[in-house]
Amino acid sequence: MPYNFDDEMIDEIREKNDIVDVISEYVDLTRTGSNYKGICPFHNEKTPSFMVSPNKQIFHCFGCGEGGNVITFIMKHLNMDFVDTLNLLASRVNIDIETKKTKRNKELEDRNKLLFNINKDSAKYFYENLQNNKKALSYIRERGIDESVIKSYGLGYALPDWSGLLEYLLHKGYKIKDIHSLGLIIQRKDKSGYFDRFRDRIIFPIINNRGSVVGFGGRIIEKNGQPKYLNSSDSPIFNKGYNLYGINILKKYARGKDVILVEGYMDVISLYKYGIRSSVASLGTSLTENQVKLIKRYGKDVYLCYDSDEAGKKATNRALEILKKEDVEAKVIVLKDAKDPDEFINKFGLERFYETMSNALPYMDFKIQLYKERHDLNISEGRIDFIKEIVTELKKIKSPVERDVYLDKISKETKVSKDSIKEELKYLPIRNYKDKYINKNNRDNNKDRIKPVINRLEPGYTIAEKNLLYLICKDKNIYESVKTQISPEDFITEEYKKIAERLYEYYENEEFLFKTFEKVLNDNLIGTLENIYNTQINIDASQKNKVLEDFIKTVKIKKLENKKVALKERLKEIDLMDSKSEGDVEKFKSICLQLINIDKELKLHQ
Ligand code: UTP
Ligand code: MN
Repeated sequence: MPYNFDDEMIDEIREKNDIVDVISEYVDLTRTGSNYKGICPFHNEKTPSFMVSPNKQIFHCFGCGEGGNVITFIMKHLNMDFVDTLNLLASRVNIDIETKKTKRNKELEDRNKLLFNINKDSAKYFYENLQNNKKALSYIRERGIDESVIKSYGLGYALPDWSGLLEYLLHKGYKIKDIHSLGLIIQRKDKSGYFDRFRDRIIFPIINNRGSVVGFGGRIIEKNGQPKYLNSSDSPIFNKGYNLYGINILKKYARGKDVILVEGYMDVISLYKYGIRSSVASLGTSLTENQVKLIKRYGKDVYLCYDSDEAGKKATNRALEILKKEDVEAKVIVLKDAKDPDEFINKFGLERFYETMSNALPYMDFKIQLYKERHDLNISEGRIDFIKEIVTELKKIKSPVERDVYLDKISKETKVSKDSIKEELKYLPIRNYKDKYINKNNRDNNKDRIKPVINRLEPGYTIAEKNLLYLICKDKNIYESVKTQISPEDFITEEYKKIAERLYEYYENEEFLFKTFEKVLNDNLIGTLENIYNTQINIDASQKNKVLEDFIKTVKIKKLENKKVALKERLKEIDLMDSKSEGDVEKFKSICLQLINIDKELKLHQ
């Protein structure tokens, strides 16, 4: 069942289900002072150490350490998941969830409709402004954009005044609160009112795949110290990571065609002018997995055509990885003598663009070129570093033939024999995990396990744990340097701890001489490892030590913080007790001491 309880509903369910009432249905409770006591249902005991506090609406067992609120009690006691538990507790106190949900969905739908209308009217307003403004029109014309392109993309202009749009929308009857939630206006610092976000800018409406205006981009006309482009902030109907500029045109006119992924609004528009209707731009942020999903839905092969400067190359490299994660093998269009596709096509025309496109570099060739630029192949050290870097890429190639072709290339570039490079390849223990395991296991049965976890709210320490494991896995040298600083017990997430334990054994017992690491893992951990492989980040070789240090620090700090929370919780419990024995007082003191020590240790890390 999809998870669609909002916080308000969860609060209501928790408040109406008194913890003492609920737990009494499962455990005999007797009153002691302001609390209730009983035999703990979570472990075997004869004398009661299970406490329920009606004031705090929590339970805690001093014997086994279990604790939580009414929801977690039911989850643990009846072994139910969160959603089922909420349903059970809701029906227990006659909360009609279905009606509430329908009502809430209807409210959301109405609100969104209203917000889309505000955006649509704003787009109209900007469009009219442009048609009536000589300065803006002449800028647009200078950039080679004609009337039909203006129409297709709904280009507009925001006047220089501070409240043109605001007044127009108020006049139409919209409320400040709604206009503000779309990021079209900004509240003054002294809270005395609002002003338009977009002023004296060419406006690019951002239209989603359903044809609704979800946001805007705005470009300055002449340099004035302001940022060149401004975008609407994210809103209830606009999430940049889920949208692409130009997706509406792609969907309408070029479904199933090869997609050209570019950086900017103007790139999309200039390519369109020359007849290419299948280019899209990520919206001023780096490409996201969800944007790739969108491309996959409407397009065929993907070509990356970012700016030709250093920043553009870096962005290309990042984008390639994101695409690869979604199983898209994109090619890279390398532009010469122009800074971006907009400049290129205006300078050299459509045919030259297609020619350049036909010479686009496959993933591996792009990587070779990129790493070549990073290392000096005239000196031994540079050649060694180059090979080390490129070999990690080679490992990802499945086809032996393809691998051999690139081995050849690399060998020629570096004048290092193919055999030596092959040796280097063997030494690294990781294989392309996905191919090895997914096909073996039944794909459908394991769907949930195999899906990469995309969790934008993932805490820093699990990211750190995953990357540490990934890096140690990948390189024995890293393991050697890391093992003195962090041990498997330091890992926080249970499964990662288990993987770390196995991984340390694997290296210590020299199992790596015979087997890949995946081979020595048990079935349960394979899914976890796959998840790690899917979410690892790419790290610049030069940054490696610094990054490793950061990851280790992050995990260690989290570990200490967890300890602190647990200790504080125990302090509270002792505090809560109605009568304290001498032992309790001693415990209290010892916990305080431990807390002081943890704080000292934390200081060391900061
Ligand atoms: P560019 O600086 O390459 O702009 O930024 P451009 O597309 O070449 O624009 P023109 O040709 O100078 O008009 C590429 C994209 O990055 C985002 C915009 O989406 C832009 O199209 N960007 C850039 C911003 O969001 N803010 C900025 O200040 C600059
Ligand atoms: Mn550009």
